[in-house]
Amino acid sequence: MSETTVPRWRARLSRGLERRQLHHPAGVHPLLDPDLGRHLPRPRLLCLQDVEKRRQSPPPQVVAGVGELRVGQVKLFRYPTENDPAILIRLDEDRFVAYQQRCTHLSCPVMYSRERGRLECPCHNGAFDAASGQVLEGPPPRALPQIDLLVHQGQILAEGVRPS
Ligand code: FES
Repeated sequence: MSETTVPRWRARLSRGLERRQLHHPAGVHPLLDPDLGRHLPRPRLLCLQDVEKRRQSPPPQVVAGVGELRVGQVKLFRYPTENDPAILIRLDEDRFVAYQQRCTHLSCPVMYSRERGRLECPCHNGAFDAASGQVLEGPPPRALPQIDLLVHQGQILAEGVRPS
């Protein structure tokens, strides 16, 4: 009767594996560890969280002086970055509103119509209420993102964007 023997190549492979396990600083070879993710660094995830936090609360920015606009006038500006066109409107003596200027349909710039009290998009005839940014008609799927304003010492500051 013959006994079952382990081939020599197989025995050498096992010994080599054990040696590598013993000499790994963590005690267990990472490729054999079922909890492999524990050994991986996570700096990229932390960076994305930081970027998201900054995006949610952009720094305040002076947009205009209170006396700069008469009732019914607008001023175009960029907020929170140079790539974000925005529009400031003086609705009456004490009331200013500001919105991101890109239409929520296909991003054409909206224009203020004082006569109709609304922001209009020339591309597909979308319209938004000037006081609230809500959709009045046309294909836009949601309201214009509104920019929070603060009047301080004669200046109007943008201090955040409310997503629609
Ligand atoms: S892009 Fe404004 S209605 Fe289509």
